[in-house]
Amino acid sequence: MLARALLVIGVLATILTGGVQSIGVCNGMIGNDLPSPQDVVQLYRSKGISNMRIYAPHSDVMEALRGSGIGLVLGVDNGDILGLAASQASAASWVQTNVSPFYPGVNITYISVGNEVQQDGVVATSILSAMQNLEAALAAAGISGHIKVSTCVRLDVITNSFPPSMATFAKPNYMPNIVLHLATTGAPLLVNVYPYFAYRDNQKDISLNYATFQPGTTVRDDGNGLVYTNLFDAMVDAIHAALEKAKAPSVRVVVSESGWPSAGGTAASVQNAQAYNQGVINHVGKGTPKKPDEPLEAYLFAMFNENQKPGELTERNFGFFYPSQSPVYPITFK
Ligand SMILES: *[C@@H]1O[C@H](CO)[C@@H](O)[C@H](O)[C@H]1NC(C)=O
Repeated sequence: MLARALLVIGVLATILTGGVQSIGVCNGMIGNDLPSPQDVVQLYRSKGISNMRIYAPHSDVMEALRGSGIGLVLGVDNGDILGLAASQASAASWVQTNVSPFYPGVNITYISVGNEVQQDGVVATSILSAMQNLEAALAAAGISGHIKVSTCVRLDVITNSFPPSMATFAKPNYMPNIVLHLATTGAPLLVNVYPYFAYRDNQKDISLNYATFQPGTTVRDDGNGLVYTNLFDAMVDAIHAALEKAKAPSVRVVVSESGWPSAGGTAASVQNAQAYNQGVINHVGKGTPKKPDEPLEAYLFAMFNENQKPGELTERNFGFFYPSQSPVYPITFK
């Protein structure tokens, strides 16, 4: 009886602290040797990964997700943003093709209008209209409210990010209108957060331990007295500070991408990748120093090493798994 009461209390405590929330993993597909969508979904399930992000509507992947319950962040390709912004009809047709046939059998949670759109172009200033047209199209299809529409941004949409409390949205300044809109719809801002690149580019000021969730460093933000023990929290709180200055403090931040490469460049090793990624996973469901009561939701990059990703060698070594589905290093997702 006592054991049972303790069990109930334990479950309640887990629910109340948000500790049951599991991790998301980005399902990048820039490779010619990746497993079938069915095998990929089976791997997510067998590892207890509850959420997936895809960068564009791949109908075969969505078909494989049907009935799985896996929460899906569905991306709008950057190349489609101008068209969606320009016409309500094209937004309606996007929803008819990519959402209506799948929802709710596929558990679409967010639609992300673009990923890391180049900041100083016409596409960036079209994101908000594309979001609004998609929202109207979802409402017309009877599925508004359940699927939140947002956009995925790089951390360089903010400037002055050290100390975190000083951060503001950078110019050209299309972000404030977006975040004010998110405040009215209740959608989160999706942000790609990479302590790896910050560390790689500034090893003089940033310690590896601080960047990889290892103990030993504390950084005090003199703007508000908050103390940081890891770079990830400092980066997320810089976004929180920018949202506050843009008068949208209620907007939740969801980390839509984060990761650390296991090979191919500076500080890219199995040991660092494992420490960093396990640190993020263990952090999910908990808050940051600035928002201790806001449970973190995060999507790690990426499920597989992708052999056709362009750029530096590290880009092809962010995966948790080889295409053979064997793990690159041990990691516990839940
Ligand atoms: C959809 O995914 C979200 C996020 O993982 C989860 O909380 C919710 O329970 C899922 N819904 C269903 C019907 O499985």
